[in-house]
Amino acid sequence: MSLSRDNGTLRVEDCEVPALAKAFGTPLYVYSRAAIEAAWRAYDEAFADREHLICYAVKANGSLAILQLLARLGSGFDIVSGGELARVMQAGGDPGKVVFSGVGKTEAEIAQALDVGILAFNVESEAELERIAAIAVRKGLEAPVSLRVNPDVDARTHPYISTGLKENKFGIDIHRAEAIYRQAAAMPGIRVTGLDFHIGSQLTELGPLADALSRSLSLIDRLGEAGISLAHLDIGGGLGIRYEDEEPPTPADLAERLAPLLAGRSQRLLMEPGRALVGEAGLLLTRVEYLKPGHRDFAIVDAAMTDLLRPALYDAWQRIETAAPVDAEPRLYDIVGPVCESADTLGKARSLALAPGALLAIHGAGAYGFVMASQYNARPRPAEVLVDGDQAHLIREREPLEALWQGERLLETR
Ligand code: LLP
Repeated sequence: MSLSRDNGTLRVEDCEVPALAKAFGTPLYVYSRAAIEAAWRAYDEAFADREHLICYAVKANGSLAILQLLARLGSGFDIVSGGELARVMQAGGDPGKVVFSGVGKTEAEIAQALDVGILAFNVESEAELERIAAIAVRKGLEAPVSLRVNPDVDARTHPYISTGLKENKFGIDIHRAEAIYRQAAAMPGIRVTGLDFHIGSQLTELGPLADALSRSLSLIDRLGEAGISLAHLDIGGGLGIRYEDEEPPTPADLAERLAPLLAGRSQRLLMEPGRALVGEAGLLLTRVEYLKPGHRDFAIVDAAMTDLLRPALYDAWQRIETAAPVDAEPRLYDIVGPVCESADTLGKARSLALAPGALLAIHGAGAYGFVMASQYNARPRPAEVLVDGDQAHLIREREPLEALWQGERLLETR
């Protein structure tokens, strides 16, 4: 267990959280190496009985040291931009294990991915397919292509993170996919290698994923009859984590549920988990600056929506606890940041015993935390620390003030 309490003091592996805050300052992202590796291995072991590749969704947390850890385990990566591809390579990831998703791949990004030899483009439209073909032909290469189908299933998650319904912008309507596969198979510059889907994020039930898989398998059968055989099948990411009292399925549950559907299928199985690998492995530490009693009791902390956007953007609930006991009566506090927006709330009506200077830990911050941070209100982005046993490695420095105007120019004219 990577998170524990010792006499009321929160620990990440063998490091006491208050000591981390003291050494590195707040707000601070803290990740557990053991938790990330255990989550990756749980996925890998769940699918051990079939040929598979875990392609970690870089968007969940793209810090180089985390990508490096996963690359060393043998992970592949799911990317959505040339920037993410560059990060993967910078961290020592293998481009031959990279799949490239996203609806808006630019010419430059496609060229970059072809040059390094990625595993597959997850193609999201006919126009994109044509663009990829043209660039590949120009380069004298063949682009490995998987069509991202939109299976039109309701992932039953938050509408902002649901992607597999036909009204969503993602993927190719599964009813049109067969015709597009036929075209793709005949296109110069294109090598059809797979099929993929991703129906949404923070899934807490497996039914929608199983439905999406069944629909995709029928399509694969029809393609087989047409002489188009696929080497891989990519089931996307999406397994949820426990923020509050959810009981999300584990990778083993997922593997078990899909096994009967996949029986006798030869395709290599790819998956794109993000949140499930890193979400619960991270905390955001923040200190109480002021208590402001009134109509509502506010605890004003030094972290903000700029550091952790999920509560403001999705009204997401993340557990907030004190990192060490505080000698005060518990009250219901709204935990708010210093940013000049009413949405700058990290938690509402939380029962906590607080005093100025108290240290808080926000859980579930390993995924979609730092990656969504901004410098709004000219706030430098926080530091990140990776805990490994009793060692704490600074994997990203707190941004210095100069980072706020890096690349900017003053006018040189009068
Ligand atoms: N594959 C594709 C094509 C995706 O679009 C995503 C996430 C994933 C994989 C990884 O999904 P995961 O396993 O992490 O659920 N910012 C939102 C989540 C956005 C997810 C976008 N796509 C949040 O904080 O909840």
